[in-house]
Amino acid sequence: MTVKKTILMLPGDGIGPDVIAQTRRLIDWLNSNRDVAFTVEEDLVGGCSHDAHGVPLTDAAMARAQAADAVLLGAVGGPQYDGLPFDVRPEAGLLRLRKEMELFANLRPAVVFPALADHSSLKREVVEGLDIMIVRELTGGVYFGEPRGIETLPDGQRRGINTQVYTTSEIHRVAAVAFDLARKRGKLVHSVEKMNVMESGRLWREEVTALHEKSFSDVKLEHMLADNCAMQLVRNPKQFDVIVTDNLFGDMLSDEAAMLTGSLGMLPSASLGATDGQGRRKALYEPVHGSAPDIAGQNLANPIATILSFAMMLRYSFDLAEPASVIEDSVRDVLNQGLRTGDIMGAGMTQVGTAGMGDAILAAMEKYAA
Ligand code: IPM
Ligand code: MG
Repeated sequence: MTVKKTILMLPGDGIGPDVIAQTRRLIDWLNSNRDVAFTVEEDLVGGCSHDAHGVPLTDAAMARAQAADAVLLGAVGGPQYDGLPFDVRPEAGLLRLRKEMELFANLRPAVVFPALADHSSLKREVVEGLDIMIVRELTGGVYFGEPRGIETLPDGQRRGINTQVYTTSEIHRVAAVAFDLARKRGKLVHSVEKMNVMESGRLWREEVTALHEKSFSDVKLEHMLADNCAMQLVRNPKQFDVIVTDNLFGDMLSDEAAMLTGSLGMLPSASLGATDGQGRRKALYEPVHGSAPDIAGQNLANPIATILSFAMMLRYSFDLAEPASVIEDSVRDVLNQGLRTGDIMGAGMTQVGTAGMGDAILAAMEKYAA
C-alpha cells in the first residue's frame, strides 16, 4: 500500500537551502522508485522569514508544521541578525517550532563512518566504531525557564536572568525515550546533570533513578556529572551508548560528540514529541550543523547531515526502514569511493561540491535499487 505523507521543508538561512535542495532530489527519487507518495510543502523560518514577514516564523508556517507528517529543517541564523531582540532572532523561529510542537526529545546520534575515522581530531583507535546516541531534552530547562530577562538595578547596574527548571514529568518522558532506545542498542544509559551544584540536577538524578527502578531495570543506568561527561567524551567516547541530559548540557555535549566523528557536516538529528492514540508523533528533523553563512550558496556545504536526517525521518516517522537503509548505505558507499566535500576533505580524496555529493548519492541509490 502506498505510503502517503506530507513533508514540510523549512530550508531557512545560510547553507540551509543548499543542503535541503539535495535532499529534495532524494525525495523525488523515492517518489519514482518506491511505493511512496511524498507531498512536499515549503515555507520560511529564521532570518529569511524575518526579512519577508518581520517574524522568524509566521503563524501560517507554524500551522503547516503542526499539520505536516514531518518537518525537515535546514538551518537558521546569520551575523546580520545578531543585533535583533531575542524574540525575533532567527533562532526564535526554531525554538517556537520545538516548543509548540512539544518536541521534547532530541536524538543526536554520533556515528563514526570507517572511511572518516582518520578525519577525527582524536586518534583512530579512540573513535573507530563509535556509535553514541545523545538524547537531549528540548522544550524545558534554561532555554524556556521563567523568570528571564535583563533588568536595570537601582544603582544603574544591569542584571541578566535565566532560570533552569525541570518537573518530574518532563524528566520522565525524555528519560523513557532514552531507555527505550537503549533497549534496542547497547542497553546502557548515562544520565548527565550537575547535581553537585544544582537542585534541578539533583531532581533529575532522583527522577531518572525512580523511573529506571520502576520500568527499565533491564537497562544499565549510570549517572555522570556534565563536566566529567565532557571530559570522558574525549578521553574514552566508546564507553557510552545512550546519553540523556537536559537542554543546555545536551546542546554542548552534542556538539562535542559530533566533532568526535570528524565533521559536524555528517550529523543528523530528530526531535520527537509524544506518541498520540493513533501511534503518530510530531517530529522535526534537522542537521546538527548551523547555517555556515560564510560558505552559503557556493556549492560548498556538505549535504550529508540533512540527507541522513531525512533517513531518520523515514525510520522514526514513517517506519520505512528499507529506503532509509538504501540512503545510509549509499552515503557510506560514496565515502568509500573517496568523494568528499571540503569539510571532510583528506589527502588522496576527490573533492566534490554540494550538488556533486547529491549526484553521487543518487547514483549509489540507483545501484542499490537495481
Ligand atoms: C542546536 C542549536 C540551537 C540550540 C540554536 C540555533 C538555538 O545550537 O540546535 O543545537 O541552541 O538549541
Ligand atoms: Mg547547538
